Amino acid sequence: MYNSKITGLGYYVPDNVVTNDDLSKLMDTNDAWIQERTGIKERRWVKPGSEDTTSVMGVKAAKVAIERAGIDKDDIDLIVFATLSPDFYFPGPGVQVQKALDIKTVGAIDIRNQCSGFIYGLSVADQFIKTGMYKNVLVIGSEIHSKGLDLTTRGRGVSVIFGDGAGAAILSRTEDNSKGILSTHLHSEGEHAEELALTAPGMGTRWVNDILKDNDPNDESYYPHMNGQFVFKNAVVRFSEVIMEGLSTNKLGPDAIDMLIPHQANLRISQFIQKKFKLTDDQVFNNIMKYGNTTAASIPIALTEAWEQGKIKEGDTVVLAAFGSGFTWGSAIIKW
Ligand code: ACO
Repeated sequence: MYNSKITGLGYYVPDNVVTNDDLSKLMDTNDAWIQERTGIKERRWVKPGSEDTTSVMGVKAAKVAIERAGIDKDDIDLIVFATLSPDFYFPGPGVQVQKALDIKTVGAIDIRNQCSGFIYGLSVADQFIKTGMYKNVLVIGSEIHSKGLDLTTRGRGVSVIFGDGAGAAILSRTEDNSKGILSTHLHSEGEHAEELALTAPGMGTRWVNDILKDNDPNDESYYPHMNGQFVFKNAVVRFSEVIMEGLSTNKLGPDAIDMLIPHQANLRISQFIQKKFKLTDDQVFNNIMKYGNTTAASIPIALTEAWEQGKIKEGDTVVLAAFGSGFTWGSAIIKW
């Protein structure tokens, strides 16, 4: 039986810093409200005219991860790309990464699953490696939110939260079963699909011809909708459950956690989980203050930063956990 191990990590965020004060010039909001409710101080948004797209940022993060893994791009057997903000409606960005990196004809899988996208992607990659089918899988989470947000007061409950960025990991085969991804756990609850959703331009709701004919500037279906408090309440429950599920599967308790990297949805959610599991500040990594919520990119960006800062050491038990639109949620338990 093979195991899979993270051998390379990388991230990329646009240079352009957007502070809460910058947002207060666009809509009726303020730094105190945003910090108090979310912990966010600033986020990165691509500048208009920038070359950065979801796939381009994913490629930038991937290049760093590939180099750190010490492999050649031609050693990659599969590309897995998680995003809710693809460059095109179709095809998904997996094939754009393949083209940009000039990787031959390996498979490219596109994962949706929003904030849980990276964990879903990691789980897919892990299964392919554990079965012996592939040796090296590139997993990317990348997101451009800034181009799709309602930047008026109408959209303030959603728009202040999200940021742009990308993170990537190389998962490689190892025969050392004491290290690597011990288990992943995936869940969803479609009953709440519309509590956090962007419904246009989906074919399920309207015909494209009708959308084009309507051309209504007040059409809110082109902007993300979020029932914030309902999402928050579900998030704290599901985060806790799925972390416990992962720990119990591996016969571990919360005291075994060396580093928890929660999806950066809201600092208050991370703090709730930290308190619930009685973890110290050193055992939980947060960077939402700098980047906002970058959905599928948030875990790989945070994981890379934590690793770069020497906060993850060989032999550590690292727990990744996410919750988001779908609802979807998941966790990964890793022995570093
Ligand atoms: N600035 C100032 N005031 C605001 C803003 C803003 N940016 N946004 C909303 N308000 C106002 C509202 O209009 C409301 O005013 P009212 O009382 O006069 O009606 C008041 O603030 C409270 O609004 P709520 O929406 O109830 O605020 P809440 O405390 O719930 O915080 C938040 C909102 C931060 C969005 C919170 O609900 C949250 O973090 N939810 C979870 C988000 C999350 O985890 N998402 C999952 C991942 S994202 C994904 O999967 C794509």
